[in-house]
Amino acid sequence: MARPKVSNPKKAFVSIRMTSEERAEMEEMVEQSGFRTVSDYLRHLHRQAKETTDRGSGVESRDAYPADLAQTYHSTRLGAMLWGDSLGHLFNGADESSVDLIVTSPPFGLVRKKTYGNEDAHLYCDWFRPFAEGFRRVLKDSGSLVIDIGGAWKAGQPTRSLYHFELLLMLCEQYDFHLCQEHYWWNPSKLPTPAEWVNVRRVRVKDAVNCIWWLSPTPWPKASNRRVLAPYSASMRDLLKNGYQAKLRPSGHDISSKFGKDNGGSVPPNLLAVANTESNGAYQDYCRRHGYPIHPARFPEEVPEYFIRMLTDPEDLVLDPFAGSCVTGAVAEVLGRRWVCCELNEEYLHGAMGRFDPAPNALNRSKSVSYSIQPPCRVPVTEKDVPLVEHGGIKRDPKPRIAQDLRGEP
Ligand SMILES: C[S@@+](CC[C@H](N)C(=O)[O-])C[C@H]1O[C@@H](n2cnc3c(N)ncnc32)[C@H](O)[C@@H]1O
Repeated sequence: MARPKVSNPKKAFVSIRMTSEERAEMEEMVEQSGFRTVSDYLRHLHRQAKETTDRGSGVESRDAYPADLAQTYHSTRLGAMLWGDSLGHLFNGADESSVDLIVTSPPFGLVRKKTYGNEDAHLYCDWFRPFAEGFRRVLKDSGSLVIDIGGAWKAGQPTRSLYHFELLLMLCEQYDFHLCQEHYWWNPSKLPTPAEWVNVRRVRVKDAVNCIWWLSPTPWPKASNRRVLAPYSASMRDLLKNGYQAKLRPSGHDISSKFGKDNGGSVPPNLLAVANTESNGAYQDYCRRHGYPIHPARFPEEVPEYFIRMLTDPEDLVLDPFAGSCVTGAVAEVLGRRWVCCELNEEYLHGAMGRFDPAPNALNRSKSVSYSIQPPCRVPVTEKDVPLVEHGGIKRDPKPRIAQDLRGEP
């Protein structure tokens, strides 16, 4: 598909001197945050800096982010994929108070690998500010904002960045969002990473959950957990069949006889267990066939599906401002919601067409999938044979004693 025509073609050249290290860092940021070129990235940073200065002088974000930053790439019966910077859509393309649900996964690679401390968290929050303002502008009072965000390790040490918590605090304290409920997406197929801390030095455990912040502009967004029920467990089915003896639980909770009422399914916990293992689906096949890059940071369709079902009605409007491979749009289309997905990197949209060719795949939810998790501390250990890593993992141990013991070495 041809690049959309812009109203102000870029003709002027400037040269910038930088060190090779600065250049390498910048190119890495360009790739991680989905910009096509260093020029696009610099223009974006400039707009953001200018917006901050302009705000003091009364210039509105609506002037800083014109609608033509994002242009229609493809439309369907219910929605549209936009190619470009979603800030253009948030401040000009979309109507104020028009969106029922924003469900998205912003780029988290922006937390730089090479710095320490919480400087990264502040940079991330500053980068996010115009989006936060745009989200407030387009969301209805009854709407919700759902952000799937992975954690990050600080470079060179086994401790975590606070950037996603700082983002949450910023959204609630400075942009007046309410935290409806934090959710966690547990990916049972996550590999034990970072290998250095988990497998080699053995001082941390597998990092297998993403945080999902469910926020809203008012404390009362529309919602119903009845739309997202999980099948009853075997023991609950048994209880419903054979009846329940009302009694006081050891916790002090008085479980009344209403507990034995069949509500069609159980209210799910705020932990979404979904393995993100699909490597040969229709989307991937389409990308491989056409030579398009497969998006490296996709969420599984179950994540947007859950929130779209729980928080919107058919014909409501769903927005994903960091669309990637347009999972959200495809799920919204199947569920009969109107949608807009916006993505900076055109190549990802070429691939996203695979989700709509010829039509989005129906969501097959008739088969129930369950994952089990083994409780820790059930493998017996003799503590004196398994010493704690006293130095906290600051260096690699030459030969872990437990491995010697297991091999029967002296
Ligand atoms: C984590 S990915 C989203 C992946 C998506 N949820 C999926 O499952 O395919 C974040 C995406 O945001 C895009 N992006 C970053 N800044 C953007 C902006 N200002 N406007 C639109 N898209 C942006 C990046 O190119 C990247 O593809």
